[in-house]
Amino acid sequence: MLSNQAGDGKRSSLHGHWSSRMAFILAVTGSAVGLGNIWKFPYIAGQNGGGAFVLVYLACVIFIGMPVMMSEILIGRRGRRNPIATMTLLGKEEGSSGNWGWVGSMGVVAGILILSYYSVIAGWTLAYIVKSATGAFVGGTPAEVGAQFGGFVGDWRQVGLTHTIFMALTVFVVARGVERGLEQAVRFMVPALLVLMLVLLVYSINSGYFGQGVAFMFTPDFDKLTWNSVLAALGQAFFTLSIGMGAIMAYGAYLPEETSITGASAAVVSADTAIAILAGLAIFPLVFANGLEPGDGPGLVFNTLPLAFGQMSGGIFFSTIFFVLLSFAAWTSAIGLMEPAVAWLVEKHNRSRAQAAVIVGLLIWAIGFGSVLSFNVLADVKFLAGTIFDNVDYLTSNIMLPLGGLLIAVFAGWVMCRNSTSDELGTAGNVFKTWRLLARFVAPLGILFVLLNAVGLLDWIRSLAS
Ligand code: PFF
Repeated sequence: MLSNQAGDGKRSSLHGHWSSRMAFILAVTGSAVGLGNIWKFPYIAGQNGGGAFVLVYLACVIFIGMPVMMSEILIGRRGRRNPIATMTLLGKEEGSSGNWGWVGSMGVVAGILILSYYSVIAGWTLAYIVKSATGAFVGGTPAEVGAQFGGFVGDWRQVGLTHTIFMALTVFVVARGVERGLEQAVRFMVPALLVLMLVLLVYSINSGYFGQGVAFMFTPDFDKLTWNSVLAALGQAFFTLSIGMGAIMAYGAYLPEETSITGASAAVVSADTAIAILAGLAIFPLVFANGLEPGDGPGLVFNTLPLAFGQMSGGIFFSTIFFVLLSFAAWTSAIGLMEPAVAWLVEKHNRSRAQAAVIVGLLIWAIGFGSVLSFNVLADVKFLAGTIFDNVDYLTSNIMLPLGGLLIAVFAGWVMCRNSTSDELGTAGNVFKTWRLLARFVAPLGILFVLLNAVGLLDWIRSLAS
């Protein structure tokens, strides 16, 4: 057993601590804000018909995402180890069982699988920096910009190369450690990204199709909503907030004792949601202005934003900066995806951080080729949810993260005693009561209900009953 008991009886982390409350908020925001907000949210919303999906997504963020995030941080801070060790330790300490460590293990696996395809898409953004800087999109028509995208993702060597470069960059930061690596990478990226999204928004407002974009995003048509769309909204809420897999738990392990978990979570959730909504508001008017399809899938952002940049004055500059920032955002998220696996290798197998980062990085890089090939050589190989990429995405976002979130909420709400959680959350008032109600009932039952409906189990039971 590791001896890292601090003098006041509380544990301290082996990997160092955040230098301030702001540093923690920045790091969690850096993990949350990423491709999920700007690449994934618009295309998933588009595929699921807009309005009603967005409403369900917002409800999931507030009533499930927020309490699960608070649970993850408080568990992380109490355990102060990697997610597997923390859940094992707290499970025993709270008089339940060490088997809770399995929740941490599932998170480690989910992080590895998510990063395997996340890195591939992040590689696309790297390629788009070069395309932007060399003026590839200037004055481009929708057909030309679409052909650029198709030509790029259709060539597995280019996609494989940019995936490789992105993984190398990620391993580099993770190897350098918590304070030196993570904090510096995040400090400027989020504010800068916000400014650029506002520039795009102004362009969109002037496109003449802003009203149509807003209507698509906010006019709910519940007829279009299937249980699978509801599950997609739930999965997106988990994915975008980086919760359900222990990444935030790992970050919570480095959080100083006095920081307010509720305040930090609220800040992160608001920033993350604002950026996703901004991305939608910037992108959908452009989709309609150019006669594109909102349900077009993973290429949506890459087919719309370059069109806008191509027509703007100073477009080369804005476009290059935008894709640089998006790559940065992806980078700070990728770090969070690797953190649970790396922290585990360091603590459990006594590896140096650098060694652990390289080992985990190589594994993820290799698995990533399944997704690299999903857009070209193996594009026609489809099973269950679609291509290999589609399946890895569905399995992780729609099943593993919600399941992880459910178990984390149950752990914080039912297994940990009231005193432990109120001690961490530092409040006994209405905020604590609301959190506890959400963590004990609303989040677990909500997730369970959506999961069961999406796999058709409730329908099946109903049909048996009638
Ligand atoms: N939240 C990130 C995004 O929206 O791009 C993705 C992510 C990062 C998920 C880190 C999970 C995680 F641990």
